[in-house]
Amino acid sequence: MYPIKNEEILEVAVEASLAASDIIMEAAHNPLIKKVKKSDSDLVTQTDLESEKIIKNFIIKNFPGHSILAEESDQKDNNSDYLWVIDPLDGTTNFVHGYPSFSVSIGIYYKKNPVVGVVLEMPHVKLYTAIVNNGSWCEGNKIQSSKTENIKDSLLVTGFGYQHGDLWGKNMDLFKIFTDKCHGVRRLGSASIDICHVATGQVDGFWEYDLSPWDSAAGILIAKEAGCIVSQLNGMEYNIFNNNILVTNGIIHKEMVKEFINYLN
Ligand code: IPD
Ligand code: CA
Ligand code: CA
Repeated sequence: MYPIKNEEILEVAVEASLAASDIIMEAAHNPLIKKVKKSDSDLVTQTDLESEKIIKNFIIKNFPGHSILAEESDQKDNNSDYLWVIDPLDGTTNFVHGYPSFSVSIGIYYKKNPVVGVVLEMPHVKLYTAIVNNGSWCEGNKIQSSKTENIKDSLLVTGFGYQHGDLWGKNMDLFKIFTDKCHGVRRLGSASIDICHVATGQVDGFWEYDLSPWDSAAGILIAKEAGCIVSQLNGMEYNIFNNNILVTNGIIHKEMVKEFINYLN
């Protein structure tokens, strides 16, 4: 059904993420290498750029005809059925401050559908992978979302984008609404890891308003293959070019969508 075996693609994505993580971890121990660029709060470091270069080189070497969408450089559009969507360092703010939640995220799409996802969590390294229709794995173990049945018994996680415009107030309201209704809402600062934590069942749901394609491209396949449901906040179908996302264990999905719809109306 696919022109290239998904296992072959996974192998290259894993190799690329491991090579990128080597330079990220090296730099994490050496603050001198960190340079701040984009804006006061939306940071970009030399390491973001180096990591992206390494990953792109792996792709170009192995699959020169594929298209690439990566956070820190212009899109490489080869008019291919394959698209690699890369966040070379997700959780840059955490990385800069030595806070333990940052990752490399690589999602591969064939004809706009996710076929392979790789998220490499750092600094306590955990490799999450998924191949479509083949389940999700973390460090060699199959993973499964939680069995939590309602919001009341859940632990949730969210994220806040860098733009503090209209969405800012909504983020704060929703943080409060859900904190009042569940066991707690966490905010870690790496969306790809947040999504993988729903996939492993460590948290029961994740939402965010203002994501970019590379934040969720790999995570959503890992989540779906682990039994999660992924949608927009209003329950409509999600694709990586929608900026708002809800990922849950599936069981509490309807209840959460109802809360968002109530709030948004
Ligand atoms: C950010 C992180 C964060 C999320 C932001 C993203 P970056 O990505 O995933 O958790 O809340 O919306 O932009 O800038 O660290 O790659
Ligand atoms: Ca990101
Ligand atoms: Ca990034």
